[in-house]
Amino acid sequence: MSEIVRAESLWRIYKLDEVEVPALQGVHLSVEKGDFSAIVGPSGSGKSTLLHLLGCLDRPTKGKVIFAGEDVSKAGDARLTNIRARRVGFVFQTFNLMPTLSAKDNVA
Ligand SMILES: Nc1ncnc2c1ncn2[C@@H]1O[C@H](COP(=O)(O)OP(=O)(O)OP(=O)(O)O)[C@@H](O)[C@H]1O
Ligand SMILES: [Mg+2]
Repeated sequence: MSEIVRAESLWRIYKLDEVEVPALQGVHLSVEKGDFSAIVGPSGSGKSTLLHLLGCLDRPTKGKVIFAGEDVSKAGDARLTNIRARRVGFVFQTFNLMPTLSAKDNVA
């Protein structure tokens, strides 16, 4: 099997005014094509933060995300959007549905 996504020394520090919240501190991870993986941990341990980075929704403060062989750590919004549109599927913790659209149109 070949690797689809890799995290290298991944840090994500959220900045709230003067306060810094280090949600991820040096995470290493590799997922092979065809793998089924679960990330488990207590609330606030950084699961969603990690998934947002692995899924090209967010960029790390430090470290790298390699998605299908491409370093996307510093990719621009247009590139990240393109990868997400073609290669990533999300089921969000909050559903992010558009209330004015039908269920079918939301899926589309
Ligand atoms: N946008 C943000 N701004 C500031 N701090 C944030 C932000 N998002 C998450 N955090 C903080 O980062 C840490 C990790 O949060 P995260 O949402 O990744 O955890 P989680 O494991 O997904 O939790 P849960 O199980 O409740 O979904 C927490 O301390 C959280 O308060
Ligand atoms: Mg979460």
